[in-house]
Amino acid sequence: MKVSHAESYRDDGTPAEQSRRTFMVQATLALGGVIGLGIAIPVVTSLVPSRDALAAKWSPLSAQEFAQLEKATQEPIKVSFAVKDQDGYLPAATSDEFVWAIRADEATMRAKRPKLFSGPDKVDYPVVTMGFVIFSPICPHLGCRYDWRAELHKFVCPCHGSQYTNLGVHTAGPAQRGLDPLPLRERSGTAELTWIQYEQDVADRVVLSYEA
Ligand code: FES
Repeated sequence: MKVSHAESYRDDGTPAEQSRRTFMVQATLALGGVIGLGIAIPVVTSLVPSRDALAAKWSPLSAQEFAQLEKATQEPIKVSFAVKDQDGYLPAATSDEFVWAIRADEATMRAKRPKLFSGPDKVDYPVVTMGFVIFSPICPHLGCRYDWRAELHKFVCPCHGSQYTNLGVHTAGPAQRGLDPLPLRERSGTAELTWIQYEQDVADRVVLSYEA
């Protein structure tokens, strides 16, 4: 049967109709890709913690909490404090947390934990502040809370047995890196801490969030 040029676009079997459909499919995919990219970029960007987020999360230590910190020697001490949680959407809230603190100088930390100071695993805040190093209480293996075992002079994680020295050097067990330091700073005579959650079970230190 003879088909006119206009009618040939409605005929599924003709080469003209097939090429039109191919064009439409490709155009739809291309448009979808552009729209998807437009949506994906802001979403991905919003997942990356900003330095502003870091700035918003400082939790001041009360006089009592600071007194705990001052008891730290080369023997670590547990410091309880209230994490200030402010995300810009919900009202500010606090939750109780603790960190581990030791006294150490920067030269010692540079010698024992050189990756914290240079290379891809470098942290972008001072490791030593006011003569203290603060460690996140979260085991970098799978997130259990480790404890200080004075008789072994080691931090020991009860879950899978990872061990760390008082300076956070990984010495045994399945963890892939040493203990994660947290930022400490002094503002108007008050010590302030920031809580950072790092990715677990990876060798590099990857920030997941700035809240508990
Ligand atoms: S969670 Fe600490 S060793 Fe596994």
